[in-house]
Amino acid sequence: MDLVGLSLPLLLVFWQWTTTTGAAVTYWTYTGSVGQSKWADYFPDCGGKAQSPVDVATVQTQYDPSLGPLTPLGYRQHGNKPFSLYNNGHTVVVPLPGWMGLGGLPWQFTAVQMHLHWGNGAPEAGGSEHTINGQSSAAETGEEANQAFWNILNYLGRIRHAGETAGQSVSIPAFDVQSLLPSDLGRYYRYNGSLTTPPCFQSVLWTLFTETVKISHTQLMKLETVLYASKEDADRVVMQDNYRTPQPLNDRTILASFPLESVKVYTAGEITAIVIGALCGCVGVAVIIRFIVKTIRSTSSWDVLPSVRPGPVPRTMEPGKELKQDVALNTTTEPGKKEDPVPPSV
Ligand SMILES: *[C@@H]1O[C@H](CO)[C@@H](O)[C@H](O)[C@H]1NC(C)=O
Repeated sequence: MDLVGLSLPLLLVFWQWTTTTGAAVTYWTYTGSVGQSKWADYFPDCGGKAQSPVDVATVQTQYDPSLGPLTPLGYRQHGNKPFSLYNNGHTVVVPLPGWMGLGGLPWQFTAVQMHLHWGNGAPEAGGSEHTINGQSSAAETGEEANQAFWNILNYLGRIRHAGETAGQSVSIPAFDVQSLLPSDLGRYYRYNGSLTTPPCFQSVLWTLFTETVKISHTQLMKLETVLYASKEDADRVVMQDNYRTPQPLNDRTILASFPLESVKVYTAGEITAIVIGALCGCVGVAVIIRFIVKTIRSTSSWDVLPSVRPGPVPRTMEPGKELKQDVALNTTTEPGKKEDPVPPSV
């Protein structure tokens, strides 16, 4: 189910039909005249009460012991067929094969795509969409490259310009997708939110892992400088700061899969990691993997999320209302600590 490449164009077309105000804008950017403060003018859901991303105030989260570890299914079985990679003008996207899925959730989810968000290379420029206690996911200088990310970064030079559709994608060798994820999939925050890009449908069950993934400064710079948000024939606009700012939490509760660590004793290594993380925070990168419910959509499933329950139309008629699952990984680079890569748990 290579929905990813198709889903966004389909969503936009769908929206255009239903826009009655006359201004059928489907084009959007992060800043400027159709920037994020204007999204709600053209995509009403973007002005909703359950939008993403949000800031996670950790002391306000609620421990839910029933939240077990997430289990990637088939992420390591990439097969021999190449993956594709494309630049949609907002981010870089890797559609994922439909046999990849996620367990440990209320329903079974099928992997659809992976994409990234980043800053602009300047100190304290941020880059992650979700923030933890007001902090954008920190990224620092580091010498150690994260090998798994070369599977994507190595090929950015071939998709520098934005393409119309996934049809302009390049083939890249298939790789172990799980290697991009943090190792601890048991500690996370969970809440109901939305897509962080127009049309901002409020149908996403978010999982935010607390363990950060590290990439090197070199890798980060590559991500932040190689791509253009503009098409080949247009004036060049570097693709940077492609993240949405935190939205009001309103009356939502953020659950935690682990109890608040009031009594946890930190080791020296952890303290170092945390302090460094706080001091040197420059640019964050958030990796998002989006999943779309494929199989199980029983009545009871929708009962759990009544606000996103679509009417009795075939799924293909309303692609935007597919229930989605996003996973955000706080991706950081860390100063070259070689043998003890302690995740700065925030
Ligand atoms: C999400 O919303 C549904 C429906 O309101 C609710 O049952 C569920 O507990 C919420 N999940 C979280 C993590 O808040």
